[in-house]
Amino acid sequence: MRISVIGCGYLGAVHASAMAELGHEVIGIDVDERKIAALAAGRPPFYEPGLPEILTSATASGRLRFSTDIADAAGAEVHFLAVGTPQVAGSGAADLGYVDAAFESLLPYLADGALIVGKSTVPVGTAGRLAERLAAGAPHASLAWNPEFLREGFAVKDTLEPDRLVYGVVDDHAASVLDQIYRAAIEAGTPRIVTDYATAELVKVAANSFLATKISFINAMSEIADATGADVTALADAIGHDARIGRRFLNAGVGFGGGCLPKDIRAFTARAEELGRGDALGFLKEVDAINLRQRQRVVDLAIEVLGGSVFQRKVAVLGVTFKPESDDVRDSPALDVAVQLKGLGAEVVATDPEGLDNARLRHPQLDYTSSTHEALRDAELVVLVTEWREYRALDPSRVGGLVAGRRIIDGRNVLDPVAWRSAGWQYRGLGRP
Ligand code: UGA
Repeated sequence: MRISVIGCGYLGAVHASAMAELGHEVIGIDVDERKIAALAAGRPPFYEPGLPEILTSATASGRLRFSTDIADAAGAEVHFLAVGTPQVAGSGAADLGYVDAAFESLLPYLADGALIVGKSTVPVGTAGRLAERLAAGAPHASLAWNPEFLREGFAVKDTLEPDRLVYGVVDDHAASVLDQIYRAAIEAGTPRIVTDYATAELVKVAANSFLATKISFINAMSEIADATGADVTALADAIGHDARIGRRFLNAGVGFGGGCLPKDIRAFTARAEELGRGDALGFLKEVDAINLRQRQRVVDLAIEVLGGSVFQRKVAVLGVTFKPESDDVRDSPALDVAVQLKGLGAEVVATDPEGLDNARLRHPQLDYTSSTHEALRDAELVVLVTEWREYRALDPSRVGGLVAGRRIIDGRNVLDPVAWRSAGWQYRGLGRP
């Protein structure tokens, strides 16, 4: 099919490349000229494993093109909206400015029978509002909402082999068009839920709210574990064996971040309040509060381990991205901890395999190095806050020869406390005795 993808960020660039990989003819559109120039040259403007390969093959095949001109979307049968919905400054609500602007700019270019497919995460009710606008401005076109569940770091696989497809539609035609687009996944047996707009919009924020709640639940348990000498990792293993609970997303640590979970639970809460149902989602405020408290716990632990103050003490911060296999530092707990320690007067040196360029743009006041050894050299405290494989694999004896003081805070509970302690380290995790 002929497809346009409006918005070429973490979601849109992967979606456009994956659609071309499936054999569709795709044009990716974005207002950011630098991003479009990079993509057109086959270079992803961000780190995502597997993306360079499909981007290069799709651009070389001629099935994938990029443009900054929305007029180039004309003629496509399907237009995916994949622009961002960031948090409004000073409020929890989602900023729909980019969605509305992309939608309006597309109206003059809609061919007869064209289908607009919303992928952006939006407050429930948005699709209904846009459908009314479409009926007035371009009645020859229609709208579907098809939320995306990809995880950064696994975005290509999650797009090509999704664990479910959700279509918010008002008629069978839109569903059959989406079936054609996702034929490979459907033939592979991917479950497909065809529903209304509101349910499709809610599926997305409900899923992210559930995941956030699961993480904050185990982090709350880690606070109780700290107060009682219990071990939150063993606790998670034990309750995780109950298939109704499940072990995934029960890793206690510095908490969740990124461009999705934090802003989605806040936007969902704000929308519920608008709907007069704020009480129903009151617990999400607590989920958010528990999550942010984890960052503070790591900072407090650093102060404690260094004997009451971090002032002028050298601290190596391992990781700045919100999770491994990503260069994304949006709402990153790791970067937040580094910034807070620096604010308290610590001599912070932060390192990360992929996230340093983005971190520098946001927090130029921090010292960065791309070398783990350089970061560790003469450190009086090591704080692991993003569980990159290379940090998990550090050898405590070898690292012990680099630092000035063998003290480590494992902000992701991924190291073996026994191995580190027996190499002479003072080891502290979150909710681990
Ligand atoms: C999340 C969802 O997992 C995707 O399904 C969804 O499509 C996406 O948001 C989105 O809305 O676009 P993502 O933000 O890429 O994906 O990252 P996750 O893998 O969900 O991790 C989120 C955060 O939770 C990370 O900071 C991670 O370190 C943290 N986390 C995860 C924990 O602290 N503990 C865990 O046990 C699991």
